[in-house]
Amino acid sequence: MKVLIVGGGGREHALAWKCAQSPRVSEVLVAPGNAGTDTESRVRNVDIAATDVPRLLELARREAVALTIIGPEAPLVAGIVDAFQGAGLRCFGPSRLAARLEASKAFSKDFLQRHGIPTAAYRSFTRENYDRAWLRAQRAPIVVKASGLAAGKGVIIAQSLSEAEAAAADMFSGRFGDAGAEIVIEQFLQGEEASFIVMADGEQVLPLATSQDHKRLQDGDAGPNTGGMGAYSPAPVVTSAIHARVMREIIAPTIRGLAHDGMPYTGFLYAGLMIGPDGTPTVLEFNCRFGDPETQPILARLRSDLTSLCEAALDASLDRVEAQWDQRAALGVVLAAAGYPDAVRSGDSIEGLESAARRPGKVFHAGTRRVAGRVVTSGGRVLCAVGLGDRVSDAQREAYALVDCIHYEGMQFRRDIGYQAIARELADDATPQGDATHHGDATHHGGHG
Ligand SMILES: Nc1ncnc2c1ncn2[C@@H]1O[C@H](COP(=O)(O)OP(=O)(O)O)[C@@H](O)[C@H]1O
Ligand SMILES: [Mg+2]
Repeated sequence: MKVLIVGGGGREHALAWKCAQSPRVSEVLVAPGNAGTDTESRVRNVDIAATDVPRLLELARREAVALTIIGPEAPLVAGIVDAFQGAGLRCFGPSRLAARLEASKAFSKDFLQRHGIPTAAYRSFTRENYDRAWLRAQRAPIVVKASGLAAGKGVIIAQSLSEAEAAAADMFSGRFGDAGAEIVIEQFLQGEEASFIVMADGEQVLPLATSQDHKRLQDGDAGPNTGGMGAYSPAPVVTSAIHARVMREIIAPTIRGLAHDGMPYTGFLYAGLMIGPDGTPTVLEFNCRFGDPETQPILARLRSDLTSLCEAALDASLDRVEAQWDQRAALGVVLAAAGYPDAVRSGDSIEGLESAARRPGKVFHAGTRRVAGRVVTSGGRVLCAVGLGDRVSDAQREAYALVDCIHYEGMQFRRDIGYQAIARELADDATPQGDATHHGDATHHGGHG
């Protein structure tokens, strides 16, 4: 069968790489792909933008694509799944209506509140009904969010109420375009974040391996927020007890609630969680797609055939499949371009990809392009170097050995990806019995949503 992956970032390189390993797959098309997907065997780039739904539909028909997997949120929010399904094509992702869970934070917060799913206390406002007196009566720190899609830049953690007021005014004045026409102001939560990603088929869910992402640009979680500077899997902060709570208190009522509200959810569902100091999980946000960079380390650990899992979801039979995981940890370090996350410079020549390819692990491409036989930077996040190892510290060592092979002008990356998990490993070493409560991502069966 032929598979089409829509998108051109690191997540889509990992999806294409994984699907191309399936013995069932004859060819993987990627639209538009990048210089990394271009060099994978059995993978072919097609120069169509991820949001050009009519041309993607035409491509899928012409090439007799049996399964399309959507990477980024923009085409999902634009209704690509509805368009493909309307044309009788199999396409894995949520409908336009269900994708509002990511497209509108105000919608998502109202949904969570209506269904009694734990999330930070909040109010949402438009320019018209904005209540500055209410904001002035709150306590700092407080979080101000542009409701719409803002490419990971629309959230301000305000340390004072005047900073929060300024952020709200900034959003209403059009700093994030339409994304800031509505805003959410919510309570600041303490704790440690984790990414909890599942596959859903409308009713059943199959949890994928847990992961943790690093949002800030610099070591020690300093500097501005980014699309993500690295990730690893599994995330030991999600113990088996917390895993069970997330499934019971968050994922199951979400899938049930969406079906109840007339927008059953099929696709990858990503819950961004805050795990409180007492282990209580709370929803920070939903994304309607696989995470980037979480996809890269998670798929590096997936032993099962991803195309079979997606097809089971499209057949509403996720309860009949299971996901097998490599018991090792995987850790991905993002290499970003000069200027990221602000004004990104493109066109820098990337050296060392060949020597990295001879080492264990895998370098996934994101913002890369082939120009006259050379691979050059062409986006904010350029590469993601993934290592594997028995422990997160081993996976980290392998990932940085790959990073050390690679060079381009202005290359930016963090040196401390995985530090929270590695601190736990060191603490476990210091404890005589170690700690057996960490969730190892054994085989997960599909469960009822
Ligand atoms: N209520 C909150 N309390 C504490 N930190 C938060 C809260 N909401 C968001 N954050 C921080 O801001 C980051 C971005 O917020 P999120 O809601 O995930 O929006 P987006 O990913 O669309 O930018 C989160 O990863 C988290 O670090
Ligand atoms: Mg987020």
